Amino acid sequence: MGIPHLLVIPFPILGHVNPLMQLSETLAKHGCKITFVNTEFCGHKQIITTGSGHDKLKRLGINFVTIPDGLSEDERSDPMKALYLLKTKMPPLLPKLIEDVNALNVDNKITSMLVTLNMGWALEVANKFGIKGAFLFTASATTMAACDCIPTLIQDGTIDSYGVPMKKQEIQLSPNMPLLDSTEVAWWAKLGKMFFTHIVEEMETLKIADWCLLNTTCDLEPGALGTSPRSLPIGPLMESDTNVSSFWEEDTTCLDWLDQQPPQSVVYVSFGSLAMLEPNQFRELALGLDLLNMPFLWVVRPSNDNKGNNNEYPHDFHGSKGKIVGWAPQRKILNHPAIACFISHCGWNSTMEGLCSGVPFLCWPFFTDQFLDKAYICNVWKVGLGLDKDENGLILRGEIKKKVEQLIRDEGIKARSLKLKERTMNNIVEGGPSSKNLQKFIHWAK
Ligand code: UDX
Repeated sequence: MGIPHLLVIPFPILGHVNPLMQLSETLAKHGCKITFVNTEFCGHKQIITTGSGHDKLKRLGINFVTIPDGLSEDERSDPMKALYLLKTKMPPLLPKLIEDVNALNVDNKITSMLVTLNMGWALEVANKFGIKGAFLFTASATTMAACDCIPTLIQDGTIDSYGVPMKKQEIQLSPNMPLLDSTEVAWWAKLGKMFFTHIVEEMETLKIADWCLLNTTCDLEPGALGTSPRSLPIGPLMESDTNVSSFWEEDTTCLDWLDQQPPQSVVYVSFGSLAMLEPNQFRELALGLDLLNMPFLWVVRPSNDNKGNNNEYPHDFHGSKGKIVGWAPQRKILNHPAIACFISHCGWNSTMEGLCSGVPFLCWPFFTDQFLDKAYICNVWKVGLGLDKDENGLILRGEIKKKVEQLIRDEGIKARSLKLKERTMNNIVEGGPSSKNLQKFIHWAK
């Protein structure tokens, strides 16, 4: 058998690029050849690939290529429109890329393709070239199970044909899964009919894939994994403590700052690469952090929306106990001994990174799968607490202070977090369940 050569194409958002890059590194270390395809724009922004990490991946044999997305600046600025347009504008561009890559690798042509959600169209193109395909689902197995169950959920009247829950109720997607809130299971509902239609179409397209890889483990979500035979948990994807690609330059001065802080003293606050706080909420968070008698490290990304969310600090905010950065080396931070807890939006990558660091969570979900991830963190694994909103939908500064204090006093949560870290990491030791699944996948790729 020859060396497997995988053409790897993420949907262009960081929450997809990062885990696929981690997986590519693992595959390269196991002897696979990788050609990693970035679109020239990720969403609205130009992607930066950081120097040293990038060179390391190249030395491992990962080759980086770019492809145009075929969109205009205007089309890119509306995420929903962009999602649909990508599906029509990119397919004609991919065959040339496949031919070019094969021409450069005549003795080691592409053997398989690996994509993320929303890129099912690429697997159809690959299919025409006789190239087999798989996809990495970048959210949880539970989120995937919800997608798989859409036809049943419509049939039994849990959701309507627009994907919206008929009523708020507790449901069980399969016999071994926990009871979950129907409004959280239907994670697509708030994004409208167009997005729901896209998800339904995408699940149909992805039937072409031989495997659905998941950044999870068989013990984190056992019931959810049972719903589909091609689901292969290979997580946690923790090959490297550096995220190679980003839109923003990492501010590494926060690592030196963390070195100066006492063990388990710092509150880390980060909401991933997409979520933005509205001005009132930004103000409450700033003043809440001030109220805490603890140091904090807060990631405030440069404002990137046109809805007036401009990250304006209140005039009475002093922030003297904290450090604010535009973008952080999150994986290194979560593993730093000075971190006490993680105020997180519960994106799946952040959730897995937090679990693997044994850090308790204070959950602040914004959209999509993040509410389901919160439900697991707080109710299933019991390694975190949620924040309650007031009658105007705001999380007030007093609530932030109260919950952080409650969280760091909770010895049960602390102990469970450390235990879960150990259990989760055991999946990727040699002979561990995720390592075995990865071998199965590599065998397929050959
Ligand atoms: C998106 C969705 O929002 C999320 O719900 C889904 O599960 C995956 O795709 P995003 O919102 O960016 O992703 O969140 P998340 O999944 O947590 O990914 C963020 C990534 O950025 C993580 O890998 C994290 O390590 C990294 N990050 C974040 C940094 O490297 N530095 C930072 O300062 C903040």
